[in-house]
Amino acid sequence: MTKPKIVVLASGEGSLLQALIDQESLLNYQIDLVISDNPQAKALERAAEADIETRLILEKEFSDRASWQQALLETLIDHEPKLIVLAGFMRILPESVVKRFTNQILNSHPSLLPKYRGLAAVAQALAAGDSETGATLHLVDQGVDTGPIVEQVVVRVLPQDTNQELHQRIKLAEQALLPKIVHSLVTHGYQVHDGRVVINH
Ligand code: GRF
Repeated sequence: MTKPKIVVLASGEGSLLQALIDQESLLNYQIDLVISDNPQAKALERAAEADIETRLILEKEFSDRASWQQALLETLIDHEPKLIVLAGFMRILPESVVKRFTNQILNSHPSLLPKYRGLAAVAQALAAGDSETGATLHLVDQGVDTGPIVEQVVVRVLPQDTNQELHQRIKLAEQALLPKIVHSLVTHGYQVHDGRVVINH
C-alpha cells in the first residue's frame, strides 16, 4: 500500500527533516518532495542523500513576488500532499498557499505558544528568565505562529544555557515529536475544535 504523501519545506540545517527521514520506514508517511528557499540549506543535502526529490524556489529568480508565490503554490498542488510540514522554513507562506491547504500545513515552533511567536523565540525565553520553554506543533493559519495547536513539549531551561544549547535541546524534543505527530495526523485524521487539534482515534 502506498503511504500518505507529505511535502517538507526547510530553509536551514534540516535536523527536523532528518528526523522525518530517519523514521519514514517505520511510520505511515512518505516524503515526496523537499522544498527550500535557500541554496545553502543543509536540508537539501540531507534530502538528496535520502533520494528525495528537491526543489529550490528562489524568489529572486522570478520577475516578482506574485510569480514566486504562484510557483510555490503550483508545485505544492502538483504533488498533492496529504500534509505539508514546515521544518525550519524561514519565510511566511503566501496567503494563497495557506488558503489552498487550510488545516493541512504543520509547523514546528521552538516555544510554548502562544508565548514568543515569530523569530528569536529561544532568545526571548532566555531573556525572560523562564525556567521552562519548549516546542509547539501547530497547524498554520494566516497569522504568524497563531494556528491551532496539535501538541506541545516542555523543555527545562538550565541556569548556564546559551541560546544555542537551549535551542539544541528544544530541537531534540522536536525531532522526537514531529515524526510521530505527522504519522498520527495523516493516519487517523483530525478535527479542529476551539483553536486546538484533536486527532481522531
Ligand atoms: C526548529 O527549532 C524549528 O522549531 C524552527 O527552526 C528549527 C529548525 O531546525 N522553526 P532544523 O533546520 O530542522 O535543524
